[in-house]
Amino acid sequence: MNVLGIESSCDETSVAIISNGKLKANLISSQDFHAKYGGVIPELSSRAHLQIILPLLKSALEKAGLRKEDLNVVAATAGPGLIGALLVGLTFAKGLAYSLNVPFVPVNHIEGHIFSGFLMDDKPEFPYLCLVVSGGHTLLLVVKSDLEIVRLGSTVDDAVGEAFDKVAKMLGFEYPGGPLIQKYAGKGNPDEIKFPIARLKNKYDFSFSGLKTSVLRYIQKLQKEHINLTDNEKENISASFQKAIIDALTQKVILALNEFEVASLSLVGGVAANTALRESIVNIGKSFNKKVIIPDLSFCGDNAAMIAYRGMKLHQLGQVFGYGYNAYARMPENTFTSINAL
Ligand code: KG4
Ligand code: ZN
Repeated sequence: MNVLGIESSCDETSVAIISNGKLKANLISSQDFHAKYGGVIPELSSRAHLQIILPLLKSALEKAGLRKEDLNVVAATAGPGLIGALLVGLTFAKGLAYSLNVPFVPVNHIEGHIFSGFLMDDKPEFPYLCLVVSGGHTLLLVVKSDLEIVRLGSTVDDAVGEAFDKVAKMLGFEYPGGPLIQKYAGKGNPDEIKFPIARLKNKYDFSFSGLKTSVLRYIQKLQKEHINLTDNEKENISASFQKAIIDALTQKVILALNEFEVASLSLVGGVAANTALRESIVNIGKSFNKKVIIPDLSFCGDNAAMIAYRGMKLHQLGQVFGYGYNAYARMPENTFTSINAL
């Protein structure tokens, strides 16, 4: 069975093919031109997706040694994401599936990330505790099976990636700022500044807006003395901020591992590319004697391999969607179960 996956929810256009369970192609075209605007410009993103999607499909088919007529299932991200960007991949995929007379599977982008660990040779085992950290979402979940996801907590304000990007902007770094914060943090002292970690009513929820404001106040205080921050100041702010984020995330992971019996632990999403966070999660897994699955970097940021995998799974499980599905049809809010299910 040959499954095509298409991802176009934000600033990555990606096309992937899974043949008989094996990933044959995962091409990702990143729209780097947004960097100069300090964030993703939705209109420009949609137009760039339109330009690249067909050549990307052709290259992916070539790489997999297939013709479009060999495709048996077509899956695409149906939401959440930028509506114009989503519509490019979604309508392209639906049109292709319709013309080939094969099933179309709409995939929730977050579900794509949640199951991205299955793209690795060493796969998660159900039930697993899953920490989703991306530019738009921060969630702590227990994934009981392919079709049962229990939400323990989520962010009440900014997503982790968003916090990284906003703090990066304050420090004068280009978008997306996460990788640059990591780079500067590597040279700084994480204990130089004590940034606050929020406490919330639901012990599994997260909040990063207070931390963000605290970093801003710290920068403003320094700027009263000198307008341009020194590299050393940027390094220490990056390291201390990154430590506060990792502490906030890992506290909840430890809490959940103590409360719920799970077989493994998985860290997914764009921010899962962060080396210090990966190391912390690996160490927690070791101390709890749990198998840890963190996808390779090419499966952390937005990619179509995870969409093809999820599409393939939903198809194998007998889920039928038709060609009428619209963006936002499969939202996490509709598919996640509450904590009472545990
Ligand atoms: O999952 P993703 O590619 O897109 C969304 O679905 O949102 O996540 C993108 C986010 C951005 O906010 C980016 O700054 C962050 O992931 N990111 C990182 C790192 N690499 C990417 N954050 C921290 N450290 C990194 N190394
Ligand atoms: Zn994503």
